[in-house]
Amino acid sequence: MKFADEVSLAVEFCGFKMPNPFILSSAPPTGTGDMIRVAFRAGWGGAVTKTIGMDKDIGPNVTPRLHHLSFPGKADEPKKLYGLQNIELITDRKLEIWLNEIQMITKEFPDRLLIASIMAGGDDKESWQTLAKSCELNGAKMLELNFSCPHGMPEKGMGAAVGQNPEVCKTVTSWVKEVTKIPVMPKMTPNITDITAPALASIEGGADAISAINTVGAVMGIDLKTLNPFPDVGGYSTPGGYSGPAIKPIGLKAVSSLYNSINVPISGMGGIENWKDAAEYILLGARTVQLCTAVMFHGFSIIEELNDGLTGFLEDHGFQSLDDCVGLSAKKITDHVKLDRNIKKISSFNHKTCIKCDLCYISCRDAGYQAIAVNEERYPVVDTARCTGCSLCEQVCPVWDCVKLVTA
Ligand SMILES: Cc1cc2nc3c(=O)[nH]c(=O)nc-3n(C[C@H](O)[C@H](O)[C@H](O)COP(=O)(O)O)c2cc1C
Repeated sequence: MKFADEVSLAVEFCGFKMPNPFILSSAPPTGTGDMIRVAFRAGWGGAVTKTIGMDKDIGPNVTPRLHHLSFPGKADEPKKLYGLQNIELITDRKLEIWLNEIQMITKEFPDRLLIASIMAGGDDKESWQTLAKSCELNGAKMLELNFSCPHGMPEKGMGAAVGQNPEVCKTVTSWVKEVTKIPVMPKMTPNITDITAPALASIEGGADAISAINTVGAVMGIDLKTLNPFPDVGGYSTPGGYSGPAIKPIGLKAVSSLYNSINVPISGMGGIENWKDAAEYILLGARTVQLCTAVMFHGFSIIEELNDGLTGFLEDHGFQSLDDCVGLSAKKITDHVKLDRNIKKISSFNHKTCIKCDLCYISCRDAGYQAIAVNEERYPVVDTARCTGCSLCEQVCPVWDCVKLVTA
């Protein structure tokens, strides 16, 4: 018998006990020690610093360096952001400043997981080892190795230039492991065919955990007045990293593939906005989850909804802790050839909720199996002999409880 008050979000990650699995990812919300302090006071379980480099490798950012993708909505409706592209570089703050801040924060918040994100060139052993040793010496509890920044840094042999080459991942991880005792977590890029290859190579090099994903390579669009690409930096732009709700499916695929192939803990991220997104990542194998864009859109206070919602989810399912559900759904992601071809379902319509928009009829007519007709009262009717159960009508229907698939 389980009692609701026994439910706890506390989780152990690489030997460190955290009050909850929610970590701020390496990004603008962790751009300074002061910001991390505010986040920890708000209740975040951990934070990864904005990526730190050697002073020789840091430089000024361009402006602007962000561009959003939104549902335009109507002119009088607020826009709903579902994606963000950035062409921001790693921190432009000096190493010495970061080391002081890491020291202060870890002293002030000993129960929170402060992870230092570090980056250097794929051939620069000395810089990797200097960064790793100095962050450890100043109190960082873990290191995240940025093998995944998709813009700016790869041109200098850093970030995704490392993460797209499994041999280099292994070598760099082993350099860091040679000089540090704290756990090391390389961060993977989704901009590669098989994300498990660099992860497995990093583990061969000694990685204690894997984090995924960094942003997805993207060009956000063109301003049709000026004909310049976004973000417009003096008439030019560059492919950048796409984040936010739009990339959640890509992150979930990465985490489930990793969980089914590796034997170290995973910190999952990409498009997590609320506790439901976090629960999905956890069910597919993430032991901790990281957030960036949601915090950039809504602020640190979303931690309250994340904690309350995830606790409620555990209670509703009779789970006592996250240990009961990490990876529970990952085994249900299987090969296509193993899916049951004997299951036959067809569409069924609820005329009480139908708004007679015709979208199901049009999409089935022009992109489906011509299995929907519209009756005299303009309600959709299924031709059960023609319907193959593809579910396109369910996808396009703007009403939540109008179309459902039922056993044929
Ligand atoms: C503006 C911006 C800057 C970022 N800077 C870094 C960085 O310095 N290091 C890093 O590892 N990831 C960086 N990221 C990637 C995020 O940490 C995260 O992996 C990605 O945004 C996906 O998570 P999200 O969808 O919750 O934002 C950055 C993301 C954004 C939007």
